Amino acid sequence: MSWRSIPAVLCLLLMACANRECLDTSGTASGAALFRINCAGCHGTDARGNGPIAEFINAPVADLTRISVRNGGQFPTERVFQVIDGQSGSSVHGVRHMPVWGYEFFGSESDDAKAHLDATQKVDRLVMYLRTLQVEQ
Ligand code: HEC
Repeated sequence: MSWRSIPAVLCLLLMACANRECLDTSGTASGAALFRINCAGCHGTDARGNGPIAEFINAPVADLTRISVRNGGQFPTERVFQVIDGQSGSSVHGVRHMPVWGYEFFGSESDDAKAHLDATQKVDRLVMYLRTLQVEQ
């Protein structure tokens, strides 16, 4: 991300926090709700990569309904988890445009085991939600 993405990021934060679900620290928000709040700004509510912020990102935003199609018909659960969590560092171009949500979901008290578990479960729910969105071809 460059400085030109700053308005986009601010907009994203506003969108997230205008919605009180972003304050849900109980870790129970559904995958669909987590997606709408944290991801739809870039990926679009239909996950096809055309959210309102997409044009500010200096990279094509991935169509998340075609992850399986791009992977020969198999949904790569592990890799998708890693992309969202942030364990999969670089994109093809060596620059990561996709925010790292593993840390994001930790919240402020990021160093205890429960916060870690909550964050992992949120990423898990997102992965399961994305799996339900996959198109055949
Ligand atoms: C700031 C914009 C932005 C936001 C917000 C965002 N993404 Fe992304 N995402 C991208 C971009 C751009 C890519 C393409 C890869 C890259 O450039 O890093 C991507 C790629 C991905 C991929 C990899 C797809 C593939 O086939 O390899 C997944 C999975 C993904 N995003 C899921 C999510 C989820 C889940 C969220 C919310 C927790 C989210 N993204 C939020 C911009 C964003």
